[in-house]
Amino acid sequence: CGIVGYIGFRKADSVIISSLKRLEYRGYDSWGVAVKEGNELKLIKKVGAIGDVEAYDVGNGKIGIGHTRWATHGKPSEKNAHPHTDCSGKIAIVHNGIISNFQSLKEELEKRGHVFKSETDTEVIAHLIEENYSGDLLSAVMKALEKVRGSYAIVALHAEKDELVAARHKSPLVLGVGDEEYIIASDVPAILDYTKRVVYLEDGDVLRIHNGGYTIFHDGKEIDRKIEIIPWSIEDAEKGGYEHFMLKEIHETPRVIEDTLSEYLDDEITIDASFAFGVSEIVFVACGTSYHACLIGKYFIEKLADISAKVEYASEFIYHQPPTGRTLVISITQSGETADTLEAMRIAKKRGAKVLTITNVLGSTATRIADFVLYTRAGPEISVAATKSFIAQLVVLYLITLKLSHIPRSEKVELLKELRLLPEVVKRILDSKEEIERISKLLAKYENLIYIGREVGGPVALEGALKMKEVSYIHAEGYPAGELKHGPFALLGEKTPVVASLVRDHTYEIMLNNIKEVKARDSIVVVVADEEDKEVEKYADFVIRVPKTNPIFSAVTHSVALQLLAYYTARERGCEIDKPRNLAKSVTVE
Ligand code: G6P
Repeated sequence: CGIVGYIGFRKADSVIISSLKRLEYRGYDSWGVAVKEGNELKLIKKVGAIGDVEAYDVGNGKIGIGHTRWATHGKPSEKNAHPHTDCSGKIAIVHNGIISNFQSLKEELEKRGHVFKSETDTEVIAHLIEENYSGDLLSAVMKALEKVRGSYAIVALHAEKDELVAARHKSPLVLGVGDEEYIIASDVPAILDYTKRVVYLEDGDVLRIHNGGYTIFHDGKEIDRKIEIIPWSIEDAEKGGYEHFMLKEIHETPRVIEDTLSEYLDDEITIDASFAFGVSEIVFVACGTSYHACLIGKYFIEKLADISAKVEYASEFIYHQPPTGRTLVISITQSGETADTLEAMRIAKKRGAKVLTITNVLGSTATRIADFVLYTRAGPEISVAATKSFIAQLVVLYLITLKLSHIPRSEKVELLKELRLLPEVVKRILDSKEEIERISKLLAKYENLIYIGREVGGPVALEGALKMKEVSYIHAEGYPAGELKHGPFALLGEKTPVVASLVRDHTYEIMLNNIKEVKARDSIVVVVADEEDKEVEKYADFVIRVPKTNPIFSAVTHSVALQLLAYYTARERGCEIDKPRNLAKSVTVE
């Protein structure tokens, strides 16, 4: 989500709405604005993206707040759109983040007579501020925030106060310091039309903008934070300084893993596994990258949860054997709107199967068809090529698998421990991408590539190849390594480099043999291998190093490395990375 607050000499609604539009890359399923006019608040809330900025009028007030939403609790609707108000309608707030204890806070507040108007976690903050308000907005916000857990960036407004109060904890917030005006926002693109002078707030900071100035508090004390000058254009800023959304989104992966884990993992996995009762087999359905997540999911489920699983392209599912009443169909779809996937889900239901969907978009069509829903917390993905959303899908699949698994508790504890470390592990890959960049300069010169892997490395190879062809237009094909000798061998040679995913498990020795076979046929070999693997250097021309993990987590580490390889190769070839020719982010035709 993106939030904005404005206080100054301009008509607040125009500033806020145009700034929200700059933040739509953070979410665009609904939006809203509250402006103080006299001693009243004027509010609008809308479903969908903003569209024409000029089309709205929220009065002439000079103080206001706004929000563009990516739903996390409560489907996209006017009622759930921010700003949210208290019972008196005098206090309005916008919030980015997730309040993890909102359910218990809401119940307590309801007992004390508060009436809730939305299904959101955010609304509890408005009511908590109301309970603590006795003329001083700053202290009411501070007291309210003592009660909430989770993550937040908020801006609060009171109809009778010429001030804004904002706070951050684990969600971004930046203050733009203009001439006689201030604009506070989730990110700098919302600010740059007005000023390049910004202050980055830190976790625990509370900000009050009042009387033509501002004060920042930390642990109850006033503190100074440096004003920085932003050197970027708005376009650069939307991409967080990255050249493309794809690269930015790959870099968001550690946070995406954390957010997805925090949704479904406390001390234990909190997924309600009722979807698995009485189930004798699982059929996965999906398209594109999500299909590759399914192939990896099948491997996890069969290996660790001992349930037999099949994977079908959604577009082919309709032609296959009908599932029975004991079949669980799991559809995976980032957008929740892919026509083929939706059709497969509808047919599965008609045939009596239960349907669970794993999606990134709250309120999407997939969530309405499915009997059960689990969410990835990847946030909006702008680049057509799926990256962070794919990794988030794998994280949900790990959680489902471990929830359903009967492996000894000590093993489960160990795997969960490693799972929690994944954000750090991925950060290390992102921090050491120079070698990948160097290799991509070489690969960019070729027109054909083959990707290979075994077991979990097989689908990793398929996804690596898909990523490469989508963004670099190099003809890249993925194969289970054992299949190479049954045809693709004919393509090997100086003109066809091979990218291998090498995992140190029971597939290791035979994969090394496959790599030797490829080398013997004069193909250049690039191997993704763990950092402790010394043996591989003897056979590979280039090695992309990733941190050592339990083999099942190599699906994440190797995929991130291969995403970067595709990205840098495409960049080297000067491709239009975020919008590859002929492709769409969400394909809504069968
Ligand atoms: C399109 C996109 C792919 C995506 C596929 C499935 O083809 O270009 O990146 O993997 O759709 O999308 P979904 O939203 O169902 O995961």
